[in-house]
Amino acid sequence: MEKMDNVFVLDHPLIQHKISILRNENTGTNEFRALIEEIAVLMGYEALRDLPTEDVEIKTPIETCMTPMIAGKKMAIVPILRAGLGMVNGILALVPSAKVGHIGLYRDPKTHEPHEYYCKLPEPIDQRTIVVVDPMLATGGSGAEAVDFIKQHGGKNIKFMCIIAAPEGLKKLHEAHPDIQIYVGHLDRCLNEDAYICPGLGDAGDRIFGTK
Ligand code: PRP
Ligand code: URA
Repeated sequence: MEKMDNVFVLDHPLIQHKISILRNENTGTNEFRALIEEIAVLMGYEALRDLPTEDVEIKTPIETCMTPMIAGKKMAIVPILRAGLGMVNGILALVPSAKVGHIGLYRDPKTHEPHEYYCKLPEPIDQRTIVVVDPMLATGGSGAEAVDFIKQHGGKNIKFMCIIAAPEGLKKLHEAHPDIQIYVGHLDRCLNEDAYICPGLGDAGDRIFGTK
């Protein structure tokens, strides 16, 4: 796939190793959930490397110095329900002061089109760095619609983080929203006829929550 501006595939060996365990059909719910959170921490570390800092005065036991801290601290983490919930605590571990919004979307099993059932975002959304999280970017319908909602509510500075993407979904999200940064843990081969990612990991929501 050609290189796209604002798209970052995070090929760190720790992320790749953990994704491989996620893919294994024998990985159970507890381990799966823990891995999703750990991968979110590792991806968040990379995706937040451009957070603005400002120098503040700190007195060490030795002397007073000017030293950088995160400026503003206005961040919103927005999981796409349900599976995105699994990534929230990983990002909160990095930025505990972040507020959390929610967007509820489900894919119609026949048409694969996303349907909204919930949207609640922290104010002032236009002043926040917004990190949208969802482990799976398949057709890209849910991701593109979630970003549409956030923009309609005034969101401007948006990052999208997914653990596995299909080329089709990545292209769709990037073309719909070329202004947002998209962080991908692994770019998989393709979608199958049911719009599941191949090789993928199956249904992320079901594997996180133990449903079927
Ligand atoms: C999954 C996944 C994404 C979406 C990706 O959610 O978590 O939100 O599918 O597919 P797309 O890119 O083709 O839109 P799903 O609709 O299964 O809902 P769930 O998380 O509640 O199980
Ligand atoms: N949603 C999932 O959870 N998995 C896929 O492979 C595609 C959409």
